[in-house]
Amino acid sequence: MVSVFGYSQNNEGIKTVKIKPKAEFVAELMSKMTVDEKIYQTVQFTSDGTVTGPKSGDNFITRIQQGKVGSILNATGAKETREIQRINLENSRLKIPLLFGHDVIHGYKTIFPINLGMASSWDPKAVELAARIAATEASSAGVHWTFAPMVDIARDPRWGRVSEGSGEDGFLGIQMAIANVKGFQGDDLSKNNTILACTKHFAAYGAAEGGRDYNTVDLSERVLRETYLPVFKATVDAGVKTFMTSFNEISGVPSTANKFLLRDVLKGEWNFDGMVVTDYTGINEMVAHGFASDEKNAGELAMNAGVDMDMVGGVYMNYLKKSYEEGKVSLTQIDDACKRILDVKYDLGLFEDPFRYSDEKREKATIYKPEFLNASLEIAKKSLVLLKNSNQILPLKNNQKISFVGPLVSDESNIIGSWAALGDRSGFATSVKEGVTNYLKNASNVTFDNGVEIKSTKRDWIQKALDNAKNADVIVAVMGESENMTGEAGSKTNIDLPGIQKEFLGELKKLGKPIVLVLLNGRPLTLSWENENMDAILEAWWPGTKGGDAIAQTLFGANNPNGKLPMSFPRNVGQLPIYYNHKNTGRPYLGKSDSEQKYKSRYTDVDNSPLFSFGFGLSYTTFEYSDLKLSSDKIKFNEKLKVSVEVKNTGNFDGQEVVQLYVRDLVGSVTRPVKELKGFDKIDIKKGETKTIAFEISSEDLKFYNLEMKHEAEAGKFEVFVGGNSDTDIKAGFELLK
Ligand code: BGC
Repeated sequence: MVSVFGYSQNNEGIKTVKIKPKAEFVAELMSKMTVDEKIYQTVQFTSDGTVTGPKSGDNFITRIQQGKVGSILNATGAKETREIQRINLENSRLKIPLLFGHDVIHGYKTIFPINLGMASSWDPKAVELAARIAATEASSAGVHWTFAPMVDIARDPRWGRVSEGSGEDGFLGIQMAIANVKGFQGDDLSKNNTILACTKHFAAYGAAEGGRDYNTVDLSERVLRETYLPVFKATVDAGVKTFMTSFNEISGVPSTANKFLLRDVLKGEWNFDGMVVTDYTGINEMVAHGFASDEKNAGELAMNAGVDMDMVGGVYMNYLKKSYEEGKVSLTQIDDACKRILDVKYDLGLFEDPFRYSDEKREKATIYKPEFLNASLEIAKKSLVLLKNSNQILPLKNNQKISFVGPLVSDESNIIGSWAALGDRSGFATSVKEGVTNYLKNASNVTFDNGVEIKSTKRDWIQKALDNAKNADVIVAVMGESENMTGEAGSKTNIDLPGIQKEFLGELKKLGKPIVLVLLNGRPLTLSWENENMDAILEAWWPGTKGGDAIAQTLFGANNPNGKLPMSFPRNVGQLPIYYNHKNTGRPYLGKSDSEQKYKSRYTDVDNSPLFSFGFGLSYTTFEYSDLKLSSDKIKFNEKLKVSVEVKNTGNFDGQEVVQLYVRDLVGSVTRPVKELKGFDKIDIKKGETKTIAFEISSEDLKFYNLEMKHEAEAGKFEVFVGGNSDTDIKAGFELLK
């Protein structure tokens, strides 16, 4: 029997015992730790699992035996994590449990739509459920900590990582981020089915110049605080326990040693009491940034700025002790980092039972539970966005002759998307072909042909596909990107459909049949040609394990599309960055009817507007908005304004609509965006039914960073907009009185 600070282990496993309250327990443990042992807690090693950069370059098992590691990245599976934990506990002096981290981004085994897809649901409850399920599966496999949610506001789809986030808007982003934190962490971290969430990447990673990954960011403090930081802050308020720094610099200072961000804002103003980890080798990279003279110096800068754990870089492990001896980092700082790490281990209940999460029996019984797969299907159905539907070509009819074509029609690998943790890439996820076959039962009227590949120029299969398509009533083209085209290091300057897919669509078009384009992809694409030439477009993102069923059920009308875009789709890449909540400029362009066409803030070759705007998404039914009412045309700072609007389902299907509320502050001590999302409500409306939707606005919602950088609302005139899309012009005005 080994007795370890409060818990005891016997040969059968672990006996849990009641341990002291956190502060007392951690203080007592730290009083027994040497400086080296404190530093080792700040070290994260990678196991031999998936990696996104160089490995730690050392035998991690030997290090664990020596008690020199605080956390392991990418070890997973109840058996493997249990074994590594056992080695740690049996050999290391203090037997402090290891923390196992893994990127559980949109599911662990049961894969949900990519995060941009989930954000398209505008349904925080659904997103919370997805995170809850992901945590349940991951925790059963020994994972304690996920590196999610990614909350980077992203206005440039050239950046591959837009797929991992919730799009361009802070208000929607906040709802999604909170849902994720709640889902992963639950109400009690010590339960065996909850895991630590990690808000990343702090901060402004999504603002990388030119959409190029890891690139420089230069922002005013106002824009940083107003656009990029609120979603991070919201997760702190929701109780997130860990944060990850971003790879980029901000205005000359890499985030990984950004005292202002980490000490002043996060741990100071926001009172964050959790732990900060770097991104993968983020400390080492400060040498290449030209911010640190060498790795040792980089480690000092990071520790002094408030970075508690070094992800895989080995810098704290190799140099921090020396830096301490030279007086370049203080014991207080090392203690603070160590304490924060031990605190989260305590919160997880690891000191009571270090094997709590590594349970092979539970793992087996948990992974791919039918109810999880069903939830994955339901969430996928909410994430699809109908971008075009001319002549109500959709929904398809069961008895139509349909030719399904395209490189992704039978795909069961890309469909689960990039960064799909341990999701199975063959033999498990439902392809579109399988989804259609499942739905139709008798699929004798349909054909399936790839026609072309995703990005090669191989033309071998085109003719066969055209021959089948010739005989069809409708063609459904399932096209898009491969999963590795987005995600980390997936930046692109050309975001058209890759390869010769568009050319193939041109050939299909010549057949004169209606064409439905179903897109599987991880970022907004440039679809101007497709929008002109296709009859219908369904944006399906990468919809996850049950994606094929979700798409089939939607195409045939068993699901009425109800997703809305969380990111604008540009007409071409020259418009980037593009986002709905832009400023007006001194020479706003009013569109084609503008009497002055020349000296206006506009492009001369293409309209300013996106092809599909933020908040846009069609349904098989139609909605009519009327009777926008404000409870008053004036409110005081301590009063609430009630906004109501009637929404009628005027079409032939029951449906769901995301009713959106935007505000414009007409004059400010600094200029304000032309519109800002301040509320939304996703509602069911039966055909013929009218519902009254109500929102409330108070001065709290109208705050911004004023000229003095104070976060306050200013008296003056405002406009309120409601509708099913950010380009709505249904509006009313009110005044906020002094
Ligand atoms: C990514 C992070 C991720 C980490 C660990 C990095 O390359 O930027 O988002 O959590 O790797 O896998």
